[in-house]
Amino acid sequence: MEYKGKVVLAYSGGLDTSVAIQWLKDQGYDVVTMTADVGQQVDLEACKDKALRTGAVNAYVMDLREEFVQQYAWKALKANAQYQGTYPLNSALSRPLIARQLVQVAEMEGAVAVAHGCTGKGQDQVRIEVCTNALNPELKVEAPVRDWHFSREDEIEYAQEHGIPVPTTKESPYSIDENMWGRAIECGVLENPWNEVPAGAFKLTADPLDAPDEPLSVEIGFEAGIPVSLNGTALSGVAMVEMLNDLAGKAGVGRVDMIEDRLVGFKSREVYECPAAVTLLTAHRALETLTLSKEVLKVKRELETKYAELTYEGYWFSPLKEALDAFMDSTQKTVSGVVRVRFYKGQVTVTGMKSPQSIYREDLATYSEGDTFDHQSAVGFIKVWGLPIKTWRQVHGETVDAEGCAEVPTLKKASGLDG
Ligand code: ARG
Repeated sequence: MEYKGKVVLAYSGGLDTSVAIQWLKDQGYDVVTMTADVGQQVDLEACKDKALRTGAVNAYVMDLREEFVQQYAWKALKANAQYQGTYPLNSALSRPLIARQLVQVAEMEGAVAVAHGCTGKGQDQVRIEVCTNALNPELKVEAPVRDWHFSREDEIEYAQEHGIPVPTTKESPYSIDENMWGRAIECGVLENPWNEVPAGAFKLTADPLDAPDEPLSVEIGFEAGIPVSLNGTALSGVAMVEMLNDLAGKAGVGRVDMIEDRLVGFKSREVYECPAAVTLLTAHRALETLTLSKEVLKVKRELETKYAELTYEGYWFSPLKEALDAFMDSTQKTVSGVVRVRFYKGQVTVTGMKSPQSIYREDLATYSEGDTFDHQSAVGFIKVWGLPIKTWRQVHGETVDAEGCAEVPTLKKASGLDG
């Protein structure tokens, strides 16, 4: 076996990536593992031990939670990024960070390749590889699970042959990916869209039907588009997301059940639970309506769709993403204030908001005393605003049928063309 050099493997501690350590060794690599903590609640030390016991020459565990929130989740929040208007992109957002970390460790270790445990069917392979190639095109990317052509039984047999511990507990019937921005649940019975999601699939959210009868309100403080305080207390990014995952999750907020249009050509039924993300996206979007101009809001909503798509499609390190970030940042300068939301049985509702940068003016909007709107200015405005339609109708009459102009003589005769 020819020695190939070092490879840095994104290691979750599960069976697939443990088998991948041995498989990569069989290919002639020395394997270094990198386990990224993005808030998925696993025992990182146990993960490190397992990697070393399974034959890794070095094992890194890295707490990337704050970076994930600041550099990925907050950027997506400023852009209100939800794929197909729904999916908060929790899994998609972690991939560029993991790729970046793989590249960094590879450069530190003098590795020639990086590796991941994605299958050949998903989009995570696309994201990790597109991002890796963008950051360091010299690095080869290995995808053992895509290449090894093992059946499940083959994989277990291979693991046993090599003394790799095979989990004895009953395997989860789903494919799960979890981080601070949410949890993705796929496969198994979910593949039939007629099947209701079994209660046991969820972990971060209560069933809305069993959620407390008492509503809960919280006040989220934003500064330049980013949440900075909860009920008046300043919080770090990680603490903010953890706290909201807990509070909103208990109320059953943040469940998403959708048919997703995959990048790899087919539709897929996807279930997510993203209590903090859904809460923050709801609050942030509302605060923007109070603080952004009509035109900026309109254009921003269009670009948000693009932002969500490019994130979904693995283009995080693209020049378009960079340009869109600059646009988003420019709009967020005034998105500061406090939003009050209420959690109740699966719903998050904005019940109030205020901002020192609000361009909502009560003295203009009010129908009561204190009204400063110039009612007489409406007269001229209506004349000019309606002029194009008035002109059209004067020429064409009241209705235009399939053939073109329909005559409505009474209308034509009744008015002159004097404006
Ligand atoms: N469909 C989602 C996406 O492509 C979730 C992927 C979750 N990954 C997983 N290994 N279960 O972003």
